[in-house]
Amino acid sequence: MVRDLSKNRGLNLPDGVLHDDMRRAIDDPDVQIGVELIGGVPAAFELCSDLLRAGKHVVTANKALICERGPELFALAAECGRTIRFEAGVAGGVPIVAGLTESLAANRITGLRAILNGTSNFLLSRMADTGAGYAEALAEAQERGYAEADPSMDVDGTDAAQKLVILARLAFGAEIAFQDVSLGGIDGLDAEDLQFAKELGCAVKLLAVANRTKRGLELSVRPTLVRQTDAVGGIGGPMNVVAVRGDLVGEAWFAGPGAGREPTASAVLADLLAVAADRPPFHAATPAEPIRPVPVDDLVSR
Ligand code: HSE
Repeated sequence: MVRDLSKNRGLNLPDGVLHDDMRRAIDDPDVQIGVELIGGVPAAFELCSDLLRAGKHVVTANKALICERGPELFALAAECGRTIRFEAGVAGGVPIVAGLTESLAANRITGLRAILNGTSNFLLSRMADTGAGYAEALAEAQERGYAEADPSMDVDGTDAAQKLVILARLAFGAEIAFQDVSLGGIDGLDAEDLQFAKELGCAVKLLAVANRTKRGLELSVRPTLVRQTDAVGGIGGPMNVVAVRGDLVGEAWFAGPGAGREPTASAVLADLLAVAADRPPFHAATPAEPIRPVPVDDLVSR
């Protein structure tokens, strides 16, 4: 399901694979799996709910949808005996949703640190490496197709926070909302800040962090000074990384292209194959437990 059928995607798909007429796809008995790529939240929510109610499985790349309305959709999918998968919604081509929910399922996750926005990471790397100005680097990220339609969501931390909410729900089995994330963006930084960081052997990264603490779950997205030798410090360009700490595995790193057409397609198609192969839906790595997010006002800026 796409918003604009006439857009040139450079693809040669058989007729009837792309739809922009939602009603027809929902009513078509030959459609078994709906892939939601229309973006936005209200219309996508309606579409995915209608698909599930019509007995179809759903694959989506829509992180805002899963962040805001995911729990309702998962409940509906369970009620309808259908699956909803969303690997492409977090970190593009990096298999972090499957990694957390399948490969690390035996672990009690204690925390994660991540770079989840390719646009801002690209911007920070460009500004640090070439001294390019903020506007110039942003224009290049837009040209390369990394940025959201509204790029302010990339640079003010919103996009990374939406992805952090999705991952933290899976990692900790907790109820988490967007408002539980203490939020800061990179929009106030300039090339000089980044070059000073470089002189210190560090890099500034828009770091998304979730930590299990005695007080509860601490969730934040903020520009952070990290050593270049750290797992997340050396990740440049549009790349994403998620470093997950588990009681058995220690710290496992998942890294790769977090934005762009082909990496996103890689994740969407993997979900499609998983549904077609009748693999079970994603479940939280940790069974539901009473851990709660620490109120944002109680988080001290470090
Ligand atoms: N705008 C997003 C990013 C795309 O830059 O990471 C992938 O969600």
